[in-house]
Amino acid sequence: MRIDIITVLPELLKSPFEASILKRAIEKDLVEIHLHNLRDYTSGNYKQVDDYQFGGGAGMVMMIEPIDKCISHLKAEREYDEVIYMTPDGESLNQGIANQISLKENLIILCGHYKGVDQRVRDMHVTREISIGDYVLSGGELAAAVLCDAVIRLLPGVLNDETSALTDTFQDNLLAPPVYTRPSEYKGMEVPKILLSGDFPKIEKWREEQALERTQKRRPDLLQ
Ligand code: 6GU
Repeated sequence: MRIDIITVLPELLKSPFEASILKRAIEKDLVEIHLHNLRDYTSGNYKQVDDYQFGGGAGMVMMIEPIDKCISHLKAEREYDEVIYMTPDGESLNQGIANQISLKENLIILCGHYKGVDQRVRDMHVTREISIGDYVLSGGELAAAVLCDAVIRLLPGVLNDETSALTDTFQDNLLAPPVYTRPSEYKGMEVPKILLSGDFPKIEKWREEQALERTQKRRPDLLQ
């Protein structure tokens, strides 16, 4: 997979890819991340990427020209499966969407800022608009990092234990059951006996019950 991320704040997007699982995925060549500074695609001396909105009103709007230049430049190099615009008015990211996107080869992710991008960018280039929840962030960068993390960990070979993404919370519309590790007793708090029993069919059944109970209690909406 190759992901090209267009942003006015590339420095904000560096560190998520320099640690842990995402770093290892890049080192193993399972994914390539290319950050593009939108200001590199401006023409004037002021490297202007935003302007006042037509019709008046507070807040700046990201201009079409630098974004179109950047996206057109990328599209001339290779075909893209999706041009994703990160925006609070997009569809809400969930595990199903992450699964879908993880099957793609080449992606462009455009990070919005200010009041967003000129509508004509969306009409011309964007194929999918994604939000990471009903709250407002200062820009799309952190949301793009969240999307990339959710997608990249699903690529074959990224996780050490190939089955572990399959048992994630949400992968079967259930929350994950409680987990424990050593010590088996801490300050009087004991690990459920069943987990120490070595009876794996019974343990599996207990985990399924716990997952269902947790989901009923915390996220009944997932069971609808
Ligand atoms: Cl994708 N962008 C911004 N700016 N805020 C958000 C978001 C995206 N998703 C939730 N809030």
